[in-house]
Amino acid sequence: MTATMIDGRAVAAEIRAELRERVEKLRRRGVVAGLAFVLVGENPASISYVRSKAQACGEIDIHSETIHLPAETGQQELLAIVGRLNADSTWHGVLVQTPLPPQIDEDAVACAVAPEKDVDALNPVNMGLLLRGEPAFLSCTPSGIQQLLLRSGNDPGGKHVVICGRSNIVGKPLAAILMQKRPGANATVTICHTGTRDLAAITRQADILVAAMGVARGITADMVREGAVVIDVGNNRVPDASRKSGMRMVGDVDFEAVAEKAAAITPVPGGVGPMTVTMLLWNTVQAAERVAGLAG
Ligand SMILES: NC(=O)c1ccc[n+]([C@@H]2O[C@H](COP(=O)([O-])OP(=O)(O)OC[C@H]3O[C@@H](n4cnc5c(N)ncnc54)[C@H](OP(=O)(O)O)[C@@H]3O)[C@@H](O)[C@H]2O)c1
Repeated sequence: MTATMIDGRAVAAEIRAELRERVEKLRRRGVVAGLAFVLVGENPASISYVRSKAQACGEIDIHSETIHLPAETGQQELLAIVGRLNADSTWHGVLVQTPLPPQIDEDAVACAVAPEKDVDALNPVNMGLLLRGEPAFLSCTPSGIQQLLLRSGNDPGGKHVVICGRSNIVGKPLAAILMQKRPGANATVTICHTGTRDLAAITRQADILVAAMGVARGITADMVREGAVVIDVGNNRVPDASRKSGMRMVGDVDFEAVAEKAAAITPVPGGVGPMTVTMLLWNTVQAAERVAGLAG
């Protein structure tokens, strides 16, 4: 392997240490940063995600609480709870874990979280502010990717960033973050998707290539320019008879072959993954700092 490994666990640990200091500074001012989670139903993955996010809060002294509601909770009841959390100054962030049961409209819930408490950045108001280049909460996985680039010495400024994937949680907000006219961004951004003709011809133009397609090893070495920086967002479970579980996690990049060509690459696991929860903590601290008059 010739590529440098971009270690998401190390970058996440560095940021969490910085956040811990900011949380302490807030406490010295009498502000306890708080994040409320709302969990509906018994989806095991959702329960486990919320538990690990709450644990991450605890590790840097953010106060959190989880409101666990039955699977049959109605939309109006959930919206009323979100409304109460919006109005409660204990909480600087409010996060409703998705997916939600079928009787609940996820978009309505995303819109109901107050934009100033929308630390998961799912409210269209934050997406709109981001696009306009105004202060906004940034979607967690994309802002984690920006931090990974910056803290690994790969400033996107002036680079051609090609993003494969246009979802509302990864591809689109990442494009909006990196295209802004400001330090740490200022990239030329191309977005690819299933309607893209000759994907490889475009990915080969990338200085920074971001794979967020949900296609196991979809980016092969012939699609990558020699010396490119490759960010793998994918989380795909594939069969692996050698594992006890019979499965293993692979990214959207054919890691071994691409690592022979790339200058730097993120592994899966241990690349983008650890950044997502870290940036949720970041947004929560930022929300509390705004309330405390400390945010820049
Ligand atoms: N590490 C993390 O924290 C984290 C966070 C979020 C997501 N993920 C992972 O990242 C991946 C993407 O997630 P997502 O939620 O953004 O996925 P998504 O909503 O399924 O969107 C996938 C995007 O990729 C495009 N795409 C799919 N196949 C393609 C192909 N063969 N060529 C070009 N474009 C293609 C789709 O195009 P169309 O729009 O044309 O359909 C779509 O825009 C998944 O593996 C997910 O598990 C990881």
